[in-house]
Amino acid sequence: MPQPTPWLEPFERAMSRDRSNPRVQVATVSPDGLPTLRTVVLRGLLGDGTPWFHTDARSRKVDHLDSERPHLAMLAWFEATQQQFRLTGRGVVHGAGAKEPWGAVRLSAWSRLSPDNRVPFFGPPPGRRYVEPVEPSSLEVPPDSFVVVALEVDEVDWLRLGPPHQRASFRKVGATWLVQQLTP
Ligand SMILES: Cc1cc2nc3c(=O)[nH]c(=O)nc-3n(C[C@H](O)[C@H](O)[C@H](O)COP(=O)(O)O)c2cc1C
Repeated sequence: MPQPTPWLEPFERAMSRDRSNPRVQVATVSPDGLPTLRTVVLRGLLGDGTPWFHTDARSRKVDHLDSERPHLAMLAWFEATQQQFRLTGRGVVHGAGAKEPWGAVRLSAWSRLSPDNRVPFFGPPPGRRYVEPVEPSSLEVPPDSFVVVALEVDEVDWLRLGPPHQRASFRKVGATWLVQQLTP
């Protein structure tokens, strides 16, 4: 039987005390080796605790997530419970034709997007010079530009503000999570 993901329960509890779709910051590494950050909405966690968000396949963050630099970090601060989670691992992009369960996750995410938020995925790539959006004839089927990014977590640094402050590290080695209490 697979070992439960030990940081998941406190993470989900913190999430439920704050808001259901937390705004988190995600960092990628540019081809020049520079850190780049942006805010995204954490849309959910797969059963095993894999966090995911959706974005545009043509965006800079997706561009960064190639096989040489798949590094992705996510920072979540939960005000209600005064907890910070720093998740690091590998970013995996699931687009059209994604294997299950990601194909279904992507379609379900699209179905929950409002029409206004669907339109940009049919327009020019993000970050280009602005042009007036043209409404496509149908918004039913997600275009190839709509992707889900999953963070395959291999390390978590957890901090709860006190007093006393508490900190722990969770590190995945093979299929096992190593947990260690740390000095804050
Ligand atoms: C509150 C908030 C929520 C956001 N949520 C998302 C999101 O879920 N997905 C996304 O792609 N961009 C989201 N954005 C926009 C990103 O922060 C960013 O500007 C955009 O994705 C382009 O980033 P990139 O050029 O680094 O790829 C959000 C911005 C804010 C302020």
